[in-house]
Amino acid sequence: MTTLPYQDPSRPVEERVDDLLARLTLDEKAGQLTQYFYFGGFGELPEGVDVGALPPELRSFVEQPKGVEAALGHGGAGSLLFVRDPAIANRLQKLAIEGSRLGIPLIFGFDVIHGLRTILPAPIALAASWDPEVIEQGQAVAAREARAVGIHWTFAPMVDIARDPRWGRIIEGAGEDPFLGAAVCAAQVRGFQGDLGPESVLAGPKHYAGYGAAVGGRDYDDADISDSELWNVYFPPFKGGIDAGARNIMSAYMDLNGVPASGNRWLLTDVLRDELGFDGFVVSDANAVRSLETQHFARDLTDAAVRALDAGLDMEMCMSDAAYSRLPRAVADGLVDEATVDLAVRRVLRAKVELGVFEHPYVDESATAGVLARADHRDVAREAAEHTLVLLKNADAALPLDAARLGSIAVIGQLADSQRDLLGPWVFDHDATEAVSILQGIRDAATGAAVTFAPGAGIPPRLYASMFDRMDPSAVNTPGDYDDDAAIAEAVEAAAAADVAVVVIGQRQNQIGENASSAVLDLPGRQLEQLQRIVATGTPVVALVMSGRPLDLRWADAHVPAILQVWYPGTRGGEAVANALFGAVSPAGRLPFTWPRHVGHVPLYYNHYRTFQPDNQAKRYWEEPSTPLYVFGHGLSYAEFAYGNLRLDRDSIAVGETATVSVDVTNTSGRDADEVVQLYIHQRSGTSTRPVRELKGFARVVVKAGDTVTVSLPLGPGELRYWSAVTRGWLQDATTIDVFAGGSSAAGLATTLTVTA
Ligand code: BGC
Repeated sequence: MTTLPYQDPSRPVEERVDDLLARLTLDEKAGQLTQYFYFGGFGELPEGVDVGALPPELRSFVEQPKGVEAALGHGGAGSLLFVRDPAIANRLQKLAIEGSRLGIPLIFGFDVIHGLRTILPAPIALAASWDPEVIEQGQAVAAREARAVGIHWTFAPMVDIARDPRWGRIIEGAGEDPFLGAAVCAAQVRGFQGDLGPESVLAGPKHYAGYGAAVGGRDYDDADISDSELWNVYFPPFKGGIDAGARNIMSAYMDLNGVPASGNRWLLTDVLRDELGFDGFVVSDANAVRSLETQHFARDLTDAAVRALDAGLDMEMCMSDAAYSRLPRAVADGLVDEATVDLAVRRVLRAKVELGVFEHPYVDESATAGVLARADHRDVAREAAEHTLVLLKNADAALPLDAARLGSIAVIGQLADSQRDLLGPWVFDHDATEAVSILQGIRDAATGAAVTFAPGAGIPPRLYASMFDRMDPSAVNTPGDYDDDAAIAEAVEAAAAADVAVVVIGQRQNQIGENASSAVLDLPGRQLEQLQRIVATGTPVVALVMSGRPLDLRWADAHVPAILQVWYPGTRGGEAVANALFGAVSPAGRLPFTWPRHVGHVPLYYNHYRTFQPDNQAKRYWEEPSTPLYVFGHGLSYAEFAYGNLRLDRDSIAVGETATVSVDVTNTSGRDADEVVQLYIHQRSGTSTRPVRELKGFARVVVKAGDTVTVSLPLGPGELRYWSAVTRGWLQDATTIDVFAGGSSAAGLATTLTVTA
């Protein structure tokens, strides 16, 4: 059999792509630009079900896999998503290769957001580690497991800046800050993509761009963002991922400033390609091309396909009946150039060639079991979780608990023994029974103490069922006939009888994530009342907060001595939490968002502008302080740190030059611990006003008891330039820059840097 040039791995990538592209028909090209969901992995229908008699929605779901398989037979799809079974992947791959004229393999995409089988802490928690190495290592584990089941590409990381915690997807990102967001995105891309070898997956930062600014925090609603905010706040995390080599970007659903992101040429081409330097391929969010019609932007599906493609959207992700299947007709009718189709196909084929799927299209089914949930993967998950815990409050060194001295511990809360909730949303291939709950973690660590458990207050279910719950038989909900009065009374009694009460409060995993925006930040149900009654017993209380967003902790902050933010800490979360509770680990995570006192304060973020009457910043509301409950970057430690000797290697630099900022951090306590050193700037005057503080550097360092560590960070054009609405471009001012260093955005140690023209 002769080897055609595109099949020859010894030839350069571009040559192979050119060769293959030249052989494709227009229909085959449209196929390569189409990605279908595949819903065939959800098991067989029960016997005797008459498909024809099912309601239309269910029937199309049941029949959907057949349509996809038919398309594969004639090169009608370039990629599939939602296939996580290696045997199914191989079967579909065979259909694609053998059924199509040129035998082009599929790439399989999936949402491997924070682990596949071994579940890492949720992404917002990973960001709270402020530790790019830990994040990279974690996502490398996720990539290895994904690849072991046949997945080539993950729809991650999500890098949308979230300034409104009502938006449920805040949990999938890195919070509110562009600098932290860019670093966390880059680390994830490095982790996922590695060397693009057999244990790597393509990464696709999403959702480009502005999705996190949905009005009212209501998922999918439109976003209105100024150009200045787009350039300075919303684009930088994408830039971080692109510079780290991300091969894919996913476009967002919503309207951005009156134009849907998925049909927005300025966004997808002018900015993404020409300014941010992206050279991979863009995929739409699920059904987002079709949605151009739904959003009353496109006239019909042909118009939607033409405008999305023209805008720079290369591949359409959809359930069935791809809008892009209309492209050949649209070319024939002169609605779009074939050259535009070719540009997109070239980008998709390049990704396939680079990933080596032509040479290795099939996954080794016999190797899968040995990779999933490997012991070393589980260790990475535990270590990552330990890095993400944020000690919000610790009055009178209430924590760590001394396990040896405690006779009894009451563990309270439904979330304490929920293996499923611990894993967070956006997991599908977990095995909840492999997860170590908080209760289990405490029991295993405090073997000398009598550990009692009371589930206590119910957590009311969602008013509208989650679409994810329907796909997840392991999802937990409080039963409808749950006797809250009795359960709370029992929990209070258990707390009263114990030496210490560890109360887990928060939201279930299906109360955060996609399609899980909240109108309020209150603890669901009667959890607050229960906490109040437990505190009233006089038993010392530790509150563990399981959430992916800030909740209203005003009462807890005023009355509970110790509060630890545990997020959704993943497969070995319970052990990590216990290690922090009993002092084997000192918490060193830091908040990646500002924690408001109350939902009425949102959006509230640290990098706001100075504006009129800055001295009254804390008094913007008449009835309570308008300051955060906990500032951005906040997080306490069991150790104590002193910052000093903040210095610059020179007091003055010219525009374009770089100064080095150094600060000494001394661990003045008797125990070793990690500390997150943060560097902020403020520009005193210039072409535009700049925020009161902006994070421009950080380092998570280990500081041994009594030691001093010096951290040095650069301040140059990369940190000092910004996009100005005055010149409508990037610039750096000659000005005075305040420089702050410390353990949070409230860092007090300051110096100044002069920048001359
Ligand atoms: C989400 C994306 C996700 C896609 C595929 C969409 O609803 O917005 O983030 O990657 O579904 O599952």
